Order: sequence, then C-alpha cells, then structure tokens
Amino acid sequence: MATSTLTENRLEGKVAIITGGASGIGEATARLFAEHGALVVIADVQDELGHKLTTSIGLNHATYMHCDVTDEEQVKATVDHTLATYGRLDIMFSNAGIGGSRDCRSILDMNMPYFDKIYAVNVRGMAAAIKHAARVMVDQNTGGSIICTASVTSILGGVAVHDYTISKHAVVGLVRSTAAELGKYGIRVNCISPFGVATPMLCSAFSKLVAEGSGCITTDVERICDSVSNLHGVTLKARDIADAALFLGSDASAFISGHNLVIDGGFTVVNHALRIYK
Ligand SMILES: NC(=O)c1ccc[n+]([C@@H]2O[C@H](COP(=O)([O-])OP(=O)(O)OC[C@H]3O[C@@H](n4cnc5c(N)ncnc54)[C@H](O)[C@@H]3O)[C@@H](O)[C@H]2O)c1
Repeated sequence: MATSTLTENRLEGKVAIITGGASGIGEATARLFAEHGALVVIADVQDELGHKLTTSIGLNHATYMHCDVTDEEQVKATVDHTLATYGRLDIMFSNAGIGGSRDCRSILDMNMPYFDKIYAVNVRGMAAAIKHAARVMVDQNTGGSIICTASVTSILGGVAVHDYTISKHAVVGLVRSTAAELGKYGIRVNCISPFGVATPMLCSAFSKLVAEGSGCITTDVERICDSVSNLHGVTLKARDIADAALFLGSDASAFISGHNLVIDGGFTVVNHALRIYK
C-alpha cells in the first residue's frame, strides 16, 4: 500500500543549509527539514540560539556554523564546511534577513547608512549564498534547490518602510536572474514571500504597536496581523512558511523555478480600498 506523501521523509538523503536558521522562520524550517530526513547546517550569527537548536534537533541531524552573510568569506566557509562534513549540498535556504529602519517612514528622511546595512544582509547576503551554493551544485552536477525568503513587500508598495520594501523587491530580481542562468545545470531558484508572522523580527518591529504591559507580544502581533489579513480564521505561523520551503526543497516541486511563492492568504491580490463597498 502506498504511504501518504504527508508522512514520508521528503528530504531523505538531502543536505541543506539554512541561513538565519537559529530563529523564527529559519528555526521552524530547520526542524521540519530534519523531521523529513535532511541533514541540516544552521548558519546564523546568534551562536547560543543556534547551538541550542542543533542540540534540540539532534546532533546527528543538524550542525551549527557561525555565518554572517554580509561577509562573503563566512558564506564560502559555511558552504565548504557543509561539503567537507556531509559530502554534498542539495538545498540552500537563503533566509537571513533584518527588518527596515523603524524611525524613517518617509523617503525624505531615508537613513542611507541603514539602507546600506539592510542591503548588505537582505540582498548582498542572499547573492553570496546563491553564488556559493551554485558553485558547489554546478560541480556536483546533480541539480539542487535554492530558496530565498522575500516578503509580501517584494510585490507591493506601502506595506513596509522603503529600505525593507526595496531590498525584498531586489530578492525577486536575484531569483529570476539566477534561475535564468542556473536552469541549464538543473538547479532551481525560487523565493517565498510571507505575510506577517510573529517571529522575533516582527515582534520587535511592532513593539510600539503593542500595549505596554501586555502579557504576550506574540499573541498581540498575531492579532495585529489577523486584523489586516484577507483570510479570516487562520493565523500565519512560521511552520506554514517552513511547509512552503519543504515543498520547494523537495522533488515535489521538480519543475518549479524562478517562482515567487506568495504565502499571504490572498492579501496582495485584493484591493483592500474597495472594502468600503461591503
Ligand atoms: N516575520 C515576518 O513577518 C516576515 C515576513 C516576510 C518576510 N520575512 C523574512 O523572513 C526571513 C526570516 O526572518 P524571521 O521573521 O524569521 O525573523 P528572525 O529575526 O526570527 O530570524 C532572522 C534570523 O536571521 C539572522 N540574521 C540576521 N542578520 C544576519 C546575518 N548578517 N547573517 C546571518 N544571519 C543573520 C538572525 O540572527 C535571525 O536568527 C527574513 O529574511 C525576513 O525578512 C519575515
């Protein structure tokens, strides 16, 4: 009898790197990838969290590597360490990112040093991850899956501050441009664009919107996201984004490349201004 595709090990025999893997979406994905049989390298700058996570997942399934994606040498070293430890690389989940500058909502006040900082992580860091993953995958000659984390702000203005929005639009450009080149090697490149998820990043960004003394910031941030969501009755969780990464990392998405998989309950395809007619 055929076993359910929901329970089988969809990443058995695959080796994955997850940047920004110590927290939030990256953490949920590291756990899910390992549950599905992958060997996972968690690459992050939060060493204590990263080590705790690998211990919790099990050291026979996951290892931690300090990797600041703004430093290309560290990205290269992480990929080389993965190759030396596990002998191959099948999935690069380039997910590390930082939020936008909080105190400048206007282009008139744009903080240019912060613009450079967010670009260094959200765009240059993603490019370095794609570059070094592709280097190894091309040599291996067995294809591969590269997944980047963009955002609903990758396709819509007015949702977040300029620097973050611009950086996430650039991620889509990176994905399309590299998918065009790497297809001939059987390497797929896609991105995932989440709506708001109450991770440490969003909780920190929304901290001013949450009433002081409130019991649980995660619950409050989820309530804020739910209040503007198009899809009622479902709260987006990091695990939902991990499920999308699992799909794009696995052979279930074998012919999908250059795609921006938007996980937003329809938020970006609905004209919310026309709610006035309801
Ligand atoms: N949470 C949301 O609502 C949301 C929505 C859309 C997109 N995203 C994107 O999801 C990705 C993951 O964010 P998250 O929400 O899980 O937040 P998070 O803060 O929980 O996780 C981000 C991780 O990236 C790491 N990181 C930051 N700078 C780094 C660097 N220079 N090198 C290596 N690692 C670094 C952090 O240490 C952290 O572990 C980001 O790219 C973010 O832009 C988040």
